[in-house]
Amino acid sequence: MAKRPSTVFVCQECGSQSPKWLGRCGDCGAWNSFVEERAQPESSGAAAAGPHRYALAGAAGARLYADIELEQHPRLSTGIDEFDRVLGGGVVPGSLVLLGGEPGIGKSTLLLQAAANMARTIGPVLYSSGEESEHQIKSRGERLSVGTAPLYLLAETCLERILEEIARVKPALVIVDSVQTIFSLKFQSAPGSIGQVREAATQLLFMAKGQNIPTFLVGHVTKDGSLAGPKALEHVVDTVLYFEGERHHSHRVVRAVKNRFGAISELGVFEMTSTGLRPVPNPSKMFLAERPSNAPGSAVLCSVEGSRPILVEVQALVSSSTYGTARRTANGIDQQRLSLLLAVLEKRAGLNLIGDDVFVNIAGGMTVDEPASDLGVLAAIASSVRNRVIPQTTAMFGEVGLAGEVRGITQANLRVREAAQMGFRRCIMPEANIDPADRGTAGDCDLVGVRTIGEALDVALG
Ligand code: TYD
Ligand code: MG
Repeated sequence: MAKRPSTVFVCQECGSQSPKWLGRCGDCGAWNSFVEERAQPESSGAAAAGPHRYALAGAAGARLYADIELEQHPRLSTGIDEFDRVLGGGVVPGSLVLLGGEPGIGKSTLLLQAAANMARTIGPVLYSSGEESEHQIKSRGERLSVGTAPLYLLAETCLERILEEIARVKPALVIVDSVQTIFSLKFQSAPGSIGQVREAATQLLFMAKGQNIPTFLVGHVTKDGSLAGPKALEHVVDTVLYFEGERHHSHRVVRAVKNRFGAISELGVFEMTSTGLRPVPNPSKMFLAERPSNAPGSAVLCSVEGSRPILVEVQALVSSSTYGTARRTANGIDQQRLSLLLAVLEKRAGLNLIGDDVFVNIAGGMTVDEPASDLGVLAAIASSVRNRVIPQTTAMFGEVGLAGEVRGITQANLRVREAAQMGFRRCIMPEANIDPADRGTAGDCDLVGVRTIGEALDVALG
């Protein structure tokens, strides 16, 4: 009797497998996440891996560390400096990069722009899309002035066909627009299921490493902000980039959350215009552009993202709550951190906030998650409560502890320099970070060291 093909049920959240369907995943606790998938043939060891094996150049058994020569990988520029920056200086040959983000944020736009630039500089580029037809991509390309670059478009969802076209076109760069839309003939499950997504990413990885073709994958992000499909995808690829920003704002931020070839938390800032994404070389200027003058509840803080200091405005509004329960809303900063800062303000600075609604917002849709932003957030809240304005040319940064102390932070020099460059005349910062030797470098900017939040508020609100 012929053996029935074995099926397994796979949790679409965490990849856990079960021979039976389960309503709730025992591993990650997700409900109704199991989908039937055909089991992959068991393979063990390099021999069984067969076609899955890919040889890295010169890999002929184990070698002594000291015998291995250091290779300098030339980086390929995407022609967009902000994009090169998040990639750690450009695209590494043979690397697999995942670009995640919500629908409509600009993933296809950015990659099409990079594809056109790279087609001009390094050779043919294959842009394979499972979401749009060639005509749709072309009409977008016209807005981005792609021109006559050797850019090949392929509207295809079958993985095997895409690999065939790669073998035929022999591109210098491959872009696969949305890994969730492609499927392999080897599996019966629907595109986007964990098995399909994993297979697509693995096959493209072999292609990228084996033939030394850098490859970009687009990945969709679910409502809760994680990549749709398996987390496993993040382990397979070399670099994971996330597109952030709000659709109502024109600016977009691309952040590296994993990079085998560069620093993480590096970020690139773009502006969406009618002719595509434009790099923003001076983000501080953009984030402060619409700052109201002489308004209470507004403070400027300096956050370091990767290697780059960025000044952003934090706005706070405190108003008495009409209904019994007070609301605390945080946009761009962590809600827990806001609760903590409010408690510190109540206890250590004597502000009475019980029964008040508190809204905090980082202007421009930016997100800051550094403790160094504490002091700015706290000052904005206090400024709103006391209805006193923080002078327009004052920037603040410092971590706030539970005892109301202002703690030292990293890279204070970098922040001071950015503030001075942007025309700020005074920085309120942790006393611990004030180095008498630095005073000269800050130019016209006056450095005021504070030890407690009480001192900081006295200085800021005069
Ligand atoms: P898109 O790159 O299609 O997003 P994703 O691939 O992440 O889903 O971006 C689409 C949005 O960008 C859409 O709302 C229109 C806007 N857009 C511009 O504002 N200017 C442009 O030049 C282009 C091409 C798109
Ligand atoms: Mg798209």
